[in-house]
Amino acid sequence: MRLSKLLGAALATTAALVAGCGGGSGAGLDANGRPLGEGDDPSGPMTASFSSIQSHVFTPICTACHAGGAAPQGLRLDAANSFTMLVGVASAEVPALKRVAPGDAANSYLIHKLEGHQSVGARMPFGGPYLDAATINLIRQWIDNGAQK
Ligand code: HEC
Repeated sequence: MRLSKLLGAALATTAALVAGCGGGSGAGLDANGRPLGEGDDPSGPMTASFSSIQSHVFTPICTACHAGGAAPQGLRLDAANSFTMLVGVASAEVPALKRVAPGDAANSYLIHKLEGHQSVGARMPFGGPYLDAATINLIRQWIDNGAQK
């Protein structure tokens, strides 16, 4: 008797959770209205989400240099470190600028380095080939949308 009551309550909770998922509230969707995580697959299209940028750009391209204790300017871009080393953190080269200033791609040093109008050092990825405009624009969009994790 007591057990079946408990089970019933548990089932009702599960049903409510399932019904609440994606029920038009926008929960579970990214800024483009696509399911979160959709762009994580490096073989699929890149989206303007942090995890997609990580799997399409930071991990395959940038960690060739930006990883481990000798990472240039102390900037590690592997999946375990990139977010905390980028978002809201002052650039080593131009400390007046954040590497990523949430909501402000134009004043994010990461974008200056990717587009090649930085005031110190080289365009990234160092030595090229450089990212195309569409890829940089998705990173801009992620920042302008608030640079969420
Ligand atoms: C071939 C090695 C190499 C690769 C690949 C590379 N970088 Fe760099 N990065 C450097 C070096 C060296 C510096 C410091 C000298 C300079 O800025 O020119 C640097 C500096 C930076 C800085 C400045 C950090 C600060 O705090 O001032 C940023 C931002 C950056 N890189 C981002 C990236 C991103 C994003 C990628 C991938 C798209 C990338 N880098 C790929 C070597 C590399």
